[in-house]
Amino acid sequence: MVSYKELGLVNSREIFKKAFEGKYAIPAFNFNNMEQMQAIIQACVEKKSPVILQVSSGARKYANQTLLRYMAQGAVAYAKELGYAIPIVLHLDHGDTFELCKSCIEMGFSSVMIDGSHHSYEKNVELTSQVVEYAHKYDVTVEGELGVLAGIEDDVAAEHHTYTEPDQVEDFVGKTGVDSLAISIGTSHGANKFTPAQCTRDANGVLIPPPLRFDILSEVEKRIPGFPIVLHGASSVPQDQVAIINKYGGALKDAIGIPEEQLRQAAASAVCKINIDSDGRLAMTAAVREVFALQPAEFDPRKYLGPARENLKKLYMHKVENVLGSAGKA
Ligand code: G3H
Ligand code: 13P
Ligand code: ZN
Repeated sequence: MVSYKELGLVNSREIFKKAFEGKYAIPAFNFNNMEQMQAIIQACVEKKSPVILQVSSGARKYANQTLLRYMAQGAVAYAKELGYAIPIVLHLDHGDTFELCKSCIEMGFSSVMIDGSHHSYEKNVELTSQVVEYAHKYDVTVEGELGVLAGIEDDVAAEHHTYTEPDQVEDFVGKTGVDSLAISIGTSHGANKFTPAQCTRDANGVLIPPPLRFDILSEVEKRIPGFPIVLHGASSVPQDQVAIINKYGGALKDAIGIPEEQLRQAAASAVCKINIDSDGRLAMTAAVREVFALQPAEFDPRKYLGPARENLKKLYMHKVENVLGSAGKA
């Protein structure tokens, strides 16, 4: 058993409390490799933002959970070396079993998500309670989820999500003892969050996605005042990055995300954590494709992973400063 406290990590309790009071959101950026971790830490140290380093089950399989844990430990030392010890949370994204959450807690994670949203309400309560009971013994914070987001394991179309039912949140939070709650108000995972048919067009023909269901968010806030809410599927799918990818041989079709103004609005409410993965994938891919297309003789990985890391860092700095409002809050 390794305690996250020995690794210099923090749980999410204190940073969420400050985010709620200060009307901003903490960035939760997914990482799978060293360049992503470096970009996240460089950006958040430079902007003095707290950060959640987020690891999915897929990331654990890809990179190995022990290596990711050591990377997070390294991130704490790296931030100090860069000149500012920002609060860093190591969080399991979309944990699906008690055993997985337990294993991450024993490995040094400071926060876990147990995603029981695909189960019945009763089973979700039971599974989430079990994880909370174990996690809280070690002062590890737990994120639960109510309502289903489209587009993760099953890759279903975005219109098949189920919005969170505000009538359930108070009972769920009370029975399970979770520390934060992910809700479904119209976001979804991946780079194709809406079909063009679901969007309207502005005067210039630019697609405008349907707005998030702020009415549901505000109902949720009334039922559990002061409680930290989490938004998954919050990438904005920057069209300049999509255009670079497609210009240099990519084939991204109908890639549409959540407008940043709506995320800013959410961050000023009870939403204390905003999950961003796909935008980082787009930024890395755009930079790598550009190098491959313009410098076809290049074969040193540092010559394309370096620009990818720079582009990622730029993206994260922008998110923290202009979208989440967490710059200067560390
Ligand atoms: O919520 C999903 C995240 O974007 C992680 O994606 O499971 O492909 O690592 P992944
Ligand atoms: P995006 O696919 O919109 O980046 O969402 C990521 C996420 O919710 C990770 O849990
Ligand atoms: Zn998610």
